[in-house]
Amino acid sequence: MSISFSGQEDSTLITTAASLPEDGGEGSLRPRTIREYIGQEKAKENLQIFIDAAKMRGEPLDHVLLHGPPGLGKTTLAAVIANEMGVNMRITSGPAIEKPGDLVAMLTNLNEGDILFVDEIHRLNRAYEEILYPAMEDYAIDIILGKGPSANSLHLDLAHFTLIGATTRSGQLTAPLRDRFGVSLRLELYTPEELKRIVERSAGILGIETEPEGAYEIASRSRGTPRIANRLLRRVRDFAQVRAEGVITKAVADEALSSLEVDKQGLDALDRRMLRSIIEFYNGGPVGLDTLAATINEEAVTLEDMYEPYLLQNGFLTRTPRGRCVTRKAYEHLGIAYIGQQQLEI
Ligand code: ADE
Repeated sequence: MSISFSGQEDSTLITTAASLPEDGGEGSLRPRTIREYIGQEKAKENLQIFIDAAKMRGEPLDHVLLHGPPGLGKTTLAAVIANEMGVNMRITSGPAIEKPGDLVAMLTNLNEGDILFVDEIHRLNRAYEEILYPAMEDYAIDIILGKGPSANSLHLDLAHFTLIGATTRSGQLTAPLRDRFGVSLRLELYTPEELKRIVERSAGILGIETEPEGAYEIASRSRGTPRIANRLLRRVRDFAQVRAEGVITKAVADEALSSLEVDKQGLDALDRRMLRSIIEFYNGGPVGLDTLAATINEEAVTLEDMYEPYLLQNGFLTRTPRGRCVTRKAYEHLGIAYIGQQQLEI
């Protein structure tokens, strides 16, 4: 299998699933098969059936939409699917497709069975979505050449391909596009136990010695996200090397993570600033996302996509029709006396 990454103008061939655009050297840590891929049991179980069935019929896999918070392995899973199907994958992203010609060129260059992976597909220009509809449904596109009465239409047949779209915001996809994905899989935050297995697997690949309690300490403070767990593993390794003869024990992990300002619940400095601002400036909420983002000088999408999922899932934050509210647990975690939000509002 080969994987190629398509930017605006040209595409660079990347020869193995090990290196993907967002890796920054993380390539070797990526699982290649469903068996190696830890967690997301439900999604994997379904995928395995769809892959087996498509292979038995000798057909390409139906189009797949992968959605969920960032860092959970959507690109990795797409590469796993390509590997399991034994096909090539071309990678691009919604914002990289700047003109219709970019998309047409990519579609017409696909070979039978290939996978086209479109990351951040919710950011694809709405006008270009129309190209995808017949491509996905009928494996064909119609191109209009010229303008006015002399315009001609050119019908191009495409190879039978699989589109894998990844998005952190499936709600922003238009219904016609969403409906054309035969398979829709939601990736969930990982449990600390799953992340511990990922940390131990990565440590094994990188040749880092970990004690089980050390791996668990990193896992439980990684906000349910493998990308964060792997990043923290490398940083904790630095501490272990300098302070503890290279072995990641619970004590070393604790010391390193505290120095990195990642607390016992896995919250980082921005999480705490976000919660503290809601308490200090808005009496614990409700406060609108844009107002909150302006208060702490961050982008609303960053808060919504990267920070909120973990805070919501772990009961530090709630979403109400009137805005975000912190919970009693957040007050307790930050060591701020909880007077009760209703009381303060009167
Ligand atoms: N590395 C990053 N994500 C992983 C996963 N889900 N399973 C195994 N290793 C990983």
